[in-house]
Amino acid sequence: MKYKLSLILLFISALTAFGQSTDTPQQRSLYQTKVEKYRPQIHFTPQAHWMNDPNGMVYYKGKYHLFYQHFPGGNKWGPMHWGHATSTDLVHWEHLPIALYPDSLGYIFSGSAVVDEKNTSGFGKDGKAPLVAIFTHHDPKGEKAGRSDFQNQSLAYSLDEGKSWTKYGGNPVLRNPGIVDFRDPKVMWYEAGKKWIMTLATKDRITFYASPNLKEWTKESEFGAHEGGHGGVWECPDLFPLKLEGKTYWVLIVNINPGAPNGGSGGQYFIGDFDGKHFTPIDNKTRWLDYGTDDYAGITWSNTGERKIFMGWMNNWTYANEVPTPSWRGAATLPRELNLEKVNGEVLLKTLPVKELDNIGLNPVSQSNIQVKDRLRLVKEQVLKSPFKLELQADQLKNFTLSLENELGDKLIIGYNEKTNSYFIDRSKSGDISFNPEFKKLHTAPRIGNGKKMDLIVYVDVASVEFFADGGLTVMTDVFFPQKPMDQVYFKTGASNAGYILKKVKYMPLKSTL
Ligand code: FRU
Repeated sequence: MKYKLSLILLFISALTAFGQSTDTPQQRSLYQTKVEKYRPQIHFTPQAHWMNDPNGMVYYKGKYHLFYQHFPGGNKWGPMHWGHATSTDLVHWEHLPIALYPDSLGYIFSGSAVVDEKNTSGFGKDGKAPLVAIFTHHDPKGEKAGRSDFQNQSLAYSLDEGKSWTKYGGNPVLRNPGIVDFRDPKVMWYEAGKKWIMTLATKDRITFYASPNLKEWTKESEFGAHEGGHGGVWECPDLFPLKLEGKTYWVLIVNINPGAPNGGSGGQYFIGDFDGKHFTPIDNKTRWLDYGTDDYAGITWSNTGERKIFMGWMNNWTYANEVPTPSWRGAATLPRELNLEKVNGEVLLKTLPVKELDNIGLNPVSQSNIQVKDRLRLVKEQVLKSPFKLELQADQLKNFTLSLENELGDKLIIGYNEKTNSYFIDRSKSGDISFNPEFKKLHTAPRIGNGKKMDLIVYVDVASVEFFADGGLTVMTDVFFPQKPMDQVYFKTGASNAGYILKKVKYMPLKSTL
């Protein structure tokens, strides 16, 4: 029986891989479980209504918890709750009841969650460690009244592995000293000092606080008034160590809105040292996690050991409330692993999708040493119905475009420009761009490093592209809304060169995770 089933599955995936258009119902169910216009098939989305930032991401007892900014009353931003989902593999998500509701202290804004292993908070019971969520209470009445202290930090805890949450009676635990933007606490255990460290976004800088028990906080230091980008408000920070060549570096992520390199919301990062009190960056250069416009408020999971897994909100405040999705609004990026790499002596972050995503890969089609003179239709016989991963490699990186198209002429173009040494994404003809004038702008990303080779990984879902170049040194994430699914992929060489020899083209359809 088992043998028979795997034969059938093999047959189905072979059909999918070679693009027969005669879909069997089983085949369709592999990638079209939920056919709603623009509904991502391999990205986390709320079942209905609004979502923004991922929150409280914590790994506990074999489950990745994902909470998120959620308004269950509508499709636009509203009074914030923490929605909740869990996954055992970062790819398939189980939706759970809302974890935190607004209360008399306000809406539940962004924050983090930790496993309080040593029960420093005293919330634990009968030897059971509590999960503790640290979040911003945003008081809309105070805001309306023109006060400056309407954002304060509070706690909630769970003793049943995140199923139910109790707000702490002593909330708020960190009171606002009179800073209008005072939010998004990311808390970590700092083992060397045996204390909790809270990294908090405080308007135009980061303020670090320390606590022995998550309830009492003392200010340690500030960072950033004169470093990094300042085209907008600092939000959703993260601080964590990463090792490279046996040395520990500290990474500080600071999201900013607006002020990202291609407009609106984006994430910058600093690399340096943290001594338990102060963060000292190696240099004063501003670096960006992602040059697309749709990776915001991204931070990492806590309690995953040395492995650092990142996820962002695949959207941008410039048009987030207007994107044309019907029953929900907002998605998360693919989960990504962060690592360090030295490029010309500079320590940089590199970002790649987690390896767990390969588990939803169907039979890949690989081709090697393909000569491209002008324009080549990749995955030729393919009827691209499912999301996919595409890998492209060549010995030399030259002008190229990679375009996703459909029969109505919609085009989403990714490319590289030798002259400016930059990658770009052009979504100006990608379908519905009418909802916001900013949406059609060209996005560019400087190429980092000076290697000769082309090395690209592209993940395409129904309404998004995630582009990882040069081993994840340059990343671009963009959403788009085609009138019909993009079912053709073309690779085009620049007019200025003698064509390309693509050393490797690997196309892998991905199974829907819905
Ligand atoms: C970032 C953000 C946070 C805030 C939350 C409110 O996108 O503005 O700073 O906590 O969203 O929903």
